[in-house]
Amino acid sequence: MLVVEAEGLHKRFGEVEALRGVDLQVSEGEILGLLGPNGAGKTTTINVLTTLIRPDAGTARVDGIDVIADPAAARGRIGLTGQFAALDDGLTARENLVLFGRLLKLGSAGAWARADELLTEFGLAEVAHRRTGTFSGGMRRRLDLAASMIGRPRVLFLDEPTTGLDPHSRNALWEAVRSLRAEGTTIVLTTQYLAEADELADRIVVIDHGKVIADGTAHELKQRTGGSTCQVGVAESTVDRAQRVLAERWEVSRDELLLTIPAAGPQTLVEVLRLLDEHDVAPTEVGLRQPTLDDVFLALTGRASNPATPATETPAGATAP
Ligand SMILES: Nc1ncnc2c1ncn2[C@@H]1O[C@H](COP(=O)(O)OP(=O)(O)O)[C@@H](O)[C@H]1O
Ligand SMILES: [Mg+2]
Repeated sequence: MLVVEAEGLHKRFGEVEALRGVDLQVSEGEILGLLGPNGAGKTTTINVLTTLIRPDAGTARVDGIDVIADPAAARGRIGLTGQFAALDDGLTARENLVLFGRLLKLGSAGAWARADELLTEFGLAEVAHRRTGTFSGGMRRRLDLAASMIGRPRVLFLDEPTTGLDPHSRNALWEAVRSLRAEGTTIVLTTQYLAEADELADRIVVIDHGKVIADGTAHELKQRTGGSTCQVGVAESTVDRAQRVLAERWEVSRDELLLTIPAAGPQTLVEVLRLLDEHDVAPTEVGLRQPTLDDVFLALTGRASNPATPATETPAGATAP
């Protein structure tokens, strides 16, 4: 069953065509990674799907509800981090969640119970009594996530949930996202980090300049760039000989002292090493390399993707842009 269906979404901001016909489908229980560089149109897409902005053209349904015709009903099915969940820094983590629960009319006992459930689930039970103003960026993101799950939304939208987090906080958030999926929540997350999409998403939609340019599993996207490669580094005195010998059997590409050969599997590596040994070439380094999503992005767009590594954690109180 499709939980999110968008077709032909267009959105213009003055001169900028932020969306130029985005189609998107997300199945129930799936984590969809919406991947693209800065300015690709990820946030605009999320904002349309979560009723925050109206598209100039196109249709979108969430859990069967038309988000343009019936935004109020659609909102009842949606969780969105960092936007709907505005934390009060003067309240404790638990008080914040209880407040959201009361706003959602869970009743006093219901709100407390749900708050404690979520605090445990997201690893925040021990800091439940602390004011959120003292929280680190990572704890805050997790509390945001908890707040957006109070009403048990059918679909959760996460817009760059780990941007600015340190690796430890990022892992904790990934764990939280996985546990939500395990409970059956459908999740759409945007990211600029190829590794994050690779790690979390069941399926990836690559978006660039307001258009979907690829769609598939991480594995399928990697296959499209051509399989793995075998890489051998050699000394300067032997590099010409090594290249000549290997070129008799494989298509070799050379980057200074590094030779790259398409690999059918680990066996190729063994054969390469044997052949080099027969010709008295001692490699300085060897490796079998799987294609990464960076390679995919390069193959799709002809240019490198954005940040290779996330920045450091934002100070407490800061939220994602
Ligand atoms: N409110 C706005 N006013 C003007 N331009 C906007 C607005 N929101 C987004 N844009 C522009 O639309 C494009 C897509 O932006 P956005 O969806 O935020 O990209 P992403 O989230 O992928 O970084 C960018 O060029 C951005 O500058
Ligand atoms: Mg964005």
